[in-house]
Amino acid sequence: MLEQITEPLLSWYDGHARVLPWREDHSPYRVWVSEIMLQQTRVEAVKPFFERFVKALPDVQALARCPEDELLKLWEGLGYYNRVRNMQKAAQIVTEEYDGAFPADYEKLLALPGIGHYTAGAIGSIAFGIRMPAVDGNVLRVLSRVKASYEDILKQSVKTAMEQEVKKIIPAGRPGDFNQALIELGAIVCVPNGKARCGECPLAFCCRAKAEGIVDELPKKKAKKERRVEARTVLILREGDRVAIRKRPSRGLLAGLYELPNLTGHLSEDEVLEQVRQWGLSPLRILPLAGAKHIFSHVEWQMTGYAVSLEETEHMDRSGMFFIDAKETEEKYPVPAAFAAYAGYMDIVLGQGRYEER
Ligand code: ADE
Repeated sequence: MLEQITEPLLSWYDGHARVLPWREDHSPYRVWVSEIMLQQTRVEAVKPFFERFVKALPDVQALARCPEDELLKLWEGLGYYNRVRNMQKAAQIVTEEYDGAFPADYEKLLALPGIGHYTAGAIGSIAFGIRMPAVDGNVLRVLSRVKASYEDILKQSVKTAMEQEVKKIIPAGRPGDFNQALIELGAIVCVPNGKARCGECPLAFCCRAKAEGIVDELPKKKAKKERRVEARTVLILREGDRVAIRKRPSRGLLAGLYELPNLTGHLSEDEVLEQVRQWGLSPLRILPLAGAKHIFSHVEWQMTGYAVSLEETEHMDRSGMFFIDAKETEEKYPVPAAFAAYAGYMDIVLGQGRYEER
């Protein structure tokens, strides 16, 4: 039944595709960068990240040799930092093995680090015109509704079956437009939150969910496992004009990024002062800060905080912490957005906030 969607979908896309920075030219590098970013956040939020990223790192070679801190800084606020590390590994492979040019081959794209079926399909179809599907959450929503399917779209088997079906109806001349049209329809008409705009939908004529009055019930997603909640105490340790940051371990959550010193649990003022002394620092004053929350995919941090001013000392061993000018942190050191609420006390802005009007 799906063959009938191809033509109306493409005609609709011709008239309604949004003008987006990554649609200006379809170089595989730009398509790749945008698609990875779009897996993390909304189109509007991606735009400034994308512009800055491709300006700083205009091609695969530039990405391949970018120092890690600079790379993570460009990604700051997007989350899932391993994605950008994988991008760098892939860029190094493309540089070394393919002479800096992405292979125009679906299987070879798929073999690169961080590139799964969706991304290989997106790069393959948009940049190279390869007839392979790019099925993301938008596409799964549109097609679940068109088919009135109650299958759980979080199941890999359901996604794979959908990819097979889509593959059969990709038009030879316009695979990239077709895939983007399906994604676009899901993003702006068959929307994820709020009422679907069925009155504007080019597929309304054949949508089974619409005919059966069940659009709002679809797609089905089985409830995910609950997130683990972790209590943490975040510290702003001030020494004159400088504030302490430290580098996180190279493995695990937020690996290799910089953070404000923080401790497990919600600590009292006395417990914090005790810990600060154990780090070899001399606290002068302590001030409690407001609580904050940050949600990661599997963990939620419930944070309390303190600002502690320290006596200025010369000693070198500071338990892995270094004291830097707050502005320098904002400009140079990648600090995850989880700390954004506390960065405010240092008069700096982190992550997505960096792109919003101040
Ligand atoms: N979401 C995922 N890929 C996209 C694209 N190419 N354009 C707009 N939104 C998207």
